[in-house]
Amino acid sequence: MTQQDSVTVAENSTQQVDGVQVVENAEEPGLLESPQKMLIRPVSVQGVMEHSLQHRERVGVQDFVLLEDYRSEAAFIDNLKKRFHENIIYTYIGNVLISVNPYKNLPIYTEEKTKLYFKKAFFEAPPHVFAIADNAYRSLVYEHREQCILISGESGSGKTEASKKVLEYIAARTNHLRNVENVKDKLLQSNPLLEAFGNAKTHRNDNSSRFGKYMDIQFNYEGGPEGGHILNYLLEKSRVVSQMHGERNFHIFYQLLASSDQSLMTHLKLQGRPEAYKYTSDSTSHMSQRANDQEQFRVVQEAMKVIEIGESEQREIFEIVASVLHLGNVKFVQNDKGYAEILSHDANSGNAADLLKVNATALREALTNRTIEARGDVVSTPLDVEQAQYARDALAKAIYDKHFSWLVSRLNSSLAPIEKDAKSSVIGILDIYGFEIFPKNSFEQFCINFCNEKLQQLFIQLTLRQEQEEYLREGIEWEPVEYFNNIIICDLIEARHKGIISILDDECLRPGDATDASFLDKLNQHLDGHQHYKSHRKSDTKTQKLMGRDEFCLVHYAGEVTYNVNTFLEKNNDLLFRDIQSLMASSDNTIVGCCFKDYNLRSKKRPETAITQFKNSLNDLIKILSSKEPSYIRCIKPNDFKAPMQFDDKLVSHQVKYLGLMENLRVRRAGFAYRRTYEAFLERYKCLSAETWPNYRGAARDGVQRLVEALQYEKEEYRMGNTKIFVRFPKTLFATEDAFQIKKNDIATIIQSRWRGYYLRKRYLRMRNAAIVIQKWVRRFLAQRLRERRRKAADVIRAFIKGFITRNGPETPENRRFLGVAKVHWLKRLSAQLPTKLLDLSWPPCPSTCREASEELHRLHRAHLARKYRLALSPDDKKQFELKVLAEKIFKGKKNSYLSSVGERFVNDRMSPEHRTLRDTFMASPAWPSGEELIYSCEAVKYDRRGYKARARGLLASRAALYVLDAGGRRTFRLKHRLPLDRLTVVVTNESDSLLLVKVPRDLKKDKGDLIISVTHLIEALTIVTDYTKKPELIEIVDTRTIAHSLVNGKQGGTIEVTKGTQPAIQRAKSGNLLVVATP
Ligand SMILES: Nc1ncnc2c1ncn2[C@@H]1O[C@H](COP(=O)(O)OP(=O)(O)O)[C@@H](O)[C@H]1O
Ligand SMILES: [Mg+2]
Repeated sequence: MTQQDSVTVAENSTQQVDGVQVVENAEEPGLLESPQKMLIRPVSVQGVMEHSLQHRERVGVQDFVLLEDYRSEAAFIDNLKKRFHENIIYTYIGNVLISVNPYKNLPIYTEEKTKLYFKKAFFEAPPHVFAIADNAYRSLVYEHREQCILISGESGSGKTEASKKVLEYIAARTNHLRNVENVKDKLLQSNPLLEAFGNAKTHRNDNSSRFGKYMDIQFNYEGGPEGGHILNYLLEKSRVVSQMHGERNFHIFYQLLASSDQSLMTHLKLQGRPEAYKYTSDSTSHMSQRANDQEQFRVVQEAMKVIEIGESEQREIFEIVASVLHLGNVKFVQNDKGYAEILSHDANSGNAADLLKVNATALREALTNRTIEARGDVVSTPLDVEQAQYARDALAKAIYDKHFSWLVSRLNSSLAPIEKDAKSSVIGILDIYGFEIFPKNSFEQFCINFCNEKLQQLFIQLTLRQEQEEYLREGIEWEPVEYFNNIIICDLIEARHKGIISILDDECLRPGDATDASFLDKLNQHLDGHQHYKSHRKSDTKTQKLMGRDEFCLVHYAGEVTYNVNTFLEKNNDLLFRDIQSLMASSDNTIVGCCFKDYNLRSKKRPETAITQFKNSLNDLIKILSSKEPSYIRCIKPNDFKAPMQFDDKLVSHQVKYLGLMENLRVRRAGFAYRRTYEAFLERYKCLSAETWPNYRGAARDGVQRLVEALQYEKEEYRMGNTKIFVRFPKTLFATEDAFQIKKNDIATIIQSRWRGYYLRKRYLRMRNAAIVIQKWVRRFLAQRLRERRRKAADVIRAFIKGFITRNGPETPENRRFLGVAKVHWLKRLSAQLPTKLLDLSWPPCPSTCREASEELHRLHRAHLARKYRLALSPDDKKQFELKVLAEKIFKGKKNSYLSSVGERFVNDRMSPEHRTLRDTFMASPAWPSGEELIYSCEAVKYDRRGYKARARGLLASRAALYVLDAGGRRTFRLKHRLPLDRLTVVVTNESDSLLLVKVPRDLKKDKGDLIISVTHLIEALTIVTDYTKKPELIEIVDTRTIAHSLVNGKQGGTIEVTKGTQPAIQRAKSGNLLVVATP
């Protein structure tokens, strides 16, 4: 693509891109639709081809076999054009790919697009060169059938690009394999190298290949590329010495001249720009081109590195290229004898000789003289200027041509597989010039067109064979197809002895004055009358006007071509003078030496003519190709201006004719237009019959049979093969497809609802699963928490039990908590069970560790009760207690009757009610001193000191004295004694008796000795009195059995005996003593 082209594309890009998108939509349904839809309709099964049928009004059909009017060239071209304007450059005729050069970069070779073709059948993806490549690759690897891909078309139609795409696809396809990088690099890099030396800018193509190329890619058993081999055909060597105006010489000349490597340039003695050299001076080179050449030179050097062409080899190659440039500048002058001579100061011949490493003088000699061997004599004759120039140009051409062939063989040795694998197989790619028809056609066009004629023949043979084989495989009766067999033309050209080639060779080899004109005569002589040969002589006047007298016309399969016989002989002879050949063979430049050495060996024998060489190599090629399974890529150039989006109907129509596409289509359509495996057909159209929708359970073939019946196909319209259905007319298929498109809307609704159902159910399930997950985690969390709580509870219980077991031991960390709880519980219990009565001595039990506290509490509680009790006491009661305490002090443990006194309340009046009046009367009498306070009064019995006679008495006590009253009179009390309290001592026994011995001091006047009385409440009486006297010492308690008492004046009186008995009594005993009987 030229610079200008890319600019145009850039300017239009939006529109272009839109265009491409429309295309993609039409042909690649899966790509632009939403992923959801893709899920529903896998492209692989449905078939892209059928899908695109619904857009056929706009984008045409992607396979020409579906053209309704397949015999109409106009319809054919219209289909191509429609597609071209939609940026769809590829179309099939069956399995032949038609490619129209877009002259702009289309986004159809991206990695993504490449992957689309991995392992796909033709109808599964839009037509593409990748589909061809993938098909070939798969047949090779999986079915072990060797493949060749034949690419043909006019110069500039995109052959070389297509071959590169095939190579790139195979590289990408084998990317996953190991150890193939190196080989792939070399294979890919062979292109820029060969293009530099073999391509040139022409009117038709800026990068036109000027040689034919057949490349084998060799694969190992794994399908990995392991090597390659290249065959080259007919380099257009005349280009080395002259080009048409506006065209260029081979790229390498300009690239070398643009090199920035100064030392290389000095070594090659090159200077200046292409205009400085005759062979490159025709072209007008632009600076921008120069920059491009410079860049390309770097690419070439890089490629050489990859191909493993060493420094010294590179140098020799460049020396050869430079030597050709120098040769071109060699000038001849006519000397005085009329012969050619090279001036001695002409540096060009010297430079050329230096670079070719031959002797400079010898070179000059060889260029200006010719040695002829005639009848054993060797004669050297000088050349005239014209002849010398011819010799010079012949040398330049020969050097360049041979060196190009050497380069190819050098490439081959580098591409040769390291280990030859016995099971290896190849894919061949043939990129060769297509049919050429110029206003003036010469020897080269003759060769090229012959080649195309041969290839066409091969093509017809193989296509028919394939078609026939398919019918056979499918068990369908073969219907003979009418086709034009061009073998008749091939024979016309190459038949032994009578073909054009034989006649030409004969003319070249025969002695005598053979000329181009004599050759034409011979042709006319032998071939006039052949239906594919036309001579000027025998043509009608109309043709004669168009044809020159020095021309003949061949009716090729593609059309008539008129050839001018001028230079046929010269070019066929391809003579290089012997002197020059042997000089070159002696060159020290190893490449040159190697290129020319054959000549010396075969010095006697004439070399084969150019056309014979070509014919032989062509037949070899045909042999190679027919042993392989072919795929075809037919390239078409849409216009002559290398311009995008321009479609020249007339130009295309020509090419369609030359490429024999209509014939091809006719053969393909002779039987059935459409064929598809039962599975694929059923999958796509099953919805058109209730029996097959949504799924047919039986064999696909039966399903298709039912479907076809439902669709009411006529018997003539289809055949059922072994694995495929064959449909004869496109209209049948279109009707089916249209029905499908209508039906699709219904199905879409169903699918949509199913999809939605499926989608929502999936979402629901996802949500449910999520909910379950959440639930699970929550449960887990709760269970863990519960377990934790239980564990803690168990710990607490265990600690409690341990605490319980050790509760009586000292406090330890283990039982501390238990004890604490026990204390609390005890305290609570205690508070509810506290005794409320002072006299209640009960006290609730306590834990052993609380014993001390318990006792203390008990004590406090008792103190508290006591205090409460005390505070509640009346003054009377209080006095009562004081008296009881006093009684205790005096009598407890000392007198047996004490205990019985405790329970009885002390009162200070023990008088019987009748005596009480007597007492009151007494106290009102003067015997009772005024102011005297009565503190105690009671009944008493007095025993006489002699005789112990009992006498009733009243007893009163005041603060000061004791009054003994005689109660015998019954009406009054009579005072018997008044005894001052502070002088009396009292003796009582320790027994429970009520005896009281009052010792009265002697000095008291009316003393009659000790007073013996009994008082019922003895302890009460004594206590109350002592309370007033504050002299307890006055009371004497004795525990003797006998007590002596004194009489008046202290004389020894009687004795009181104390004994125990059941009945208390105080009486006179028989002994005369007073007997006191105390209860125990
Ligand atoms: N598929 C393609 N896409 C874009 N440009 C192309 C394509 N094929 C060919 N061309 C353009 O056309 C030019 C000529 O193609 P080329 O393959 O060299 O033709 P041929 O080998 O048939 O003479 C290329 O240099 C390129 O610019
Ligand atoms: Mg090419």
